[in-house]
Amino acid sequence: MKYILLSNGSELPIVGLGTWKTEPEEVENVVEIALNSGYRHIDTAFNYNTEEPVGKVVNRWISSGSVRREELFITTKLPVWGNRPNDVEKYLKLSLSRLNLDYVDLYLMHMPFSFHSNKDNTAPLVKEDGTFSLDIESDITATWKQMEKQVKNGLTKGIGMSNFNEQQVKKIHNIAEIKPVVLQVELHAYLQQKELRKACNQMEIAVTAFAPLGSPGTNQHFTKKYNFAFDNYPDILGLPIVQELSKKYKKTPGQILLKHLIQQNISVIPKSSNPERLRANIDLFDFNLSEEDMQQLDDLDREESGRIFNFLFFKGVEKHPEYPFK
Ligand SMILES: NC(=O)c1ccc[n+]([C@@H]2O[C@H](COP(=O)([O-])OP(=O)(O)OC[C@H]3O[C@@H](n4cnc5c(N)ncnc54)[C@H](OP(=O)(O)O)[C@@H]3O)[C@@H](O)[C@H]2O)c1
Repeated sequence: MKYILLSNGSELPIVGLGTWKTEPEEVENVVEIALNSGYRHIDTAFNYNTEEPVGKVVNRWISSGSVRREELFITTKLPVWGNRPNDVEKYLKLSLSRLNLDYVDLYLMHMPFSFHSNKDNTAPLVKEDGTFSLDIESDITATWKQMEKQVKNGLTKGIGMSNFNEQQVKKIHNIAEIKPVVLQVELHAYLQQKELRKACNQMEIAVTAFAPLGSPGTNQHFTKKYNFAFDNYPDILGLPIVQELSKKYKKTPGQILLKHLIQQNISVIPKSSNPERLRANIDLFDFNLSEEDMQQLDDLDREESGRIFNFLFFKGVEKHPEYPFK
């Protein structure tokens, strides 16, 4: 495993396990296989419904002496419906109790925009017309100050953001007493985030790529859950150049796409519930892509038009002042 040294001194395993959309009944088994295959970095979030089973397996491994807590890197996230100063500590404590851990390694503001919460704090409030109830009072810098308090109180080692644009990242960086250590954003061959990565590099913020394989299958999820159709959903794993390099290096298309990112020091958190793919997705350290092949993959970048996760399935979100992708 290769690690990225974060600005707070923590070491982030460059490959982690994504858990969004892992079926609740599968999570324990998936995490068990992942830990056995060498994963030490797990990405979850308050709204993934995976914190509890992740916590169960992790605690089993710690109490049996199979792994030390310090060897694990656990990330979770503040939900979009709790994205306000007064809610930060409450949601982090709820996540810690679900995980049954004293601290996480990284706590992320999941989104820059905020929604009001439903009555039982489990989902965003949706209005009768189907639009999400926007909390336009929320102030990302005030929320950040409460994120900092969580580090001071020992509930998380590091703090960061997800889905923030460059301007928003800079805004936080400028006011921060405790600096963000990680920005987690959509990042794959079609959306390579080159400008944003350069800016993060200058601010000593590591970048984690979500949907590093282009999130196959998420179009069905958007349609089923939000009745939101995505036109021309891309098949990045199926691209001819990815298939060609897969044959050339005798690696799976997934391994080619992940290697393209980690070879640039970008951490990746692919999700899989399939034991074979889980193992393959971390088995990336016995080959290197040539400069020429890296360039061919670099050339796939479609910049902004390669974005899949514009969050417009949250009806009305684009009206929020902090909607990041205007
Ligand atoms: N911060 C955010 O807003 C945000 C948003 C989205 C995702 N995330 C995080 O990022 C993680 C990864 O993103 P993602 O799950 O959307 O997309 P992804 O990791 O790019 O793709 C996951 C999909 O690819 C399949 N897959 C996995 N490995 C494969 C391989 N080697 N070859 C072919 N197919 C493969 C999986 O199916 P099988 O399970 O059947 O293998 C699954 O359907 C999430 O799980 C979550 O932790 C964060």
